[in-house]
Amino acid sequence: MKIFIDSANIDEIREANEWGIIDGVTTNPSLIAREKKDIKQLIWEITEINKPVSVEGSSKEADGLIKEAGEIAGWGRNIVVKIPMTPEGIKAVTILKNYHNIKTNMTLVFSVNQALLAAMAGATYVSLFVGRLDDTGVDGMQVVEDIIKIFNHYHLKSEVIVASIRTPQHVTEAAIAGAHVATVPFKILEQMFNHPLTDAGIKKFTKDWEEIEKCAKK
Ligand code: G3P
Repeated sequence: MKIFIDSANIDEIREANEWGIIDGVTTNPSLIAREKKDIKQLIWEITEINKPVSVEGSSKEADGLIKEAGEIAGWGRNIVVKIPMTPEGIKAVTILKNYHNIKTNMTLVFSVNQALLAAMAGATYVSLFVGRLDDTGVDGMQVVEDIIKIFNHYHLKSEVIVASIRTPQHVTEAAIAGAHVATVPFKILEQMFNHPLTDAGIKKFTKDWEEIEKCAKK
């Protein structure tokens, strides 16, 4: 499974990239707006990590989505254009797949049927929002499992991104489910490092080293 960072904060992205554990970045209009920066400059800076970066525009109709995708693709290297899961979005993905060398990430996907349509249209990635599904009382990870089972059975090429991740357990479950990608907020990535037994072990070993150093030949 690949890990993307779900953030538009350049400091978070650079820090996570230095850990050497991320394979890409996903953004969305809410994450971009939070940074209060010029979007083109911000995306240019983010794409300097030279890994896939998903960016979403504002168009709703297929023609506008296709035109906008061409513009966004020029904002940096390795840009993946996020397209909303609508009939017009599916039409745009089909055209971008067949006539333009632009990778797409079908976003705001919440069901198996939506994921199927996105894969049939040729989306590079399909982003299933587990956290938002959980918020409605639906078991979001069950939907992920069903999608992955179907994609594997029919050898569908689209990669499933588990998005809207709210806990480290979501990352674990995404990996167990066989997801291609989990896109993880920075604070969850930080939480993934932590375990109380690791802390206790480091504390003990540090103390033991103090004993070792006392015995070392002066
Ligand atoms: O960026 C897409 C998705 O991960 C956003 O999730 O529900 O936390 O806004 P959410």
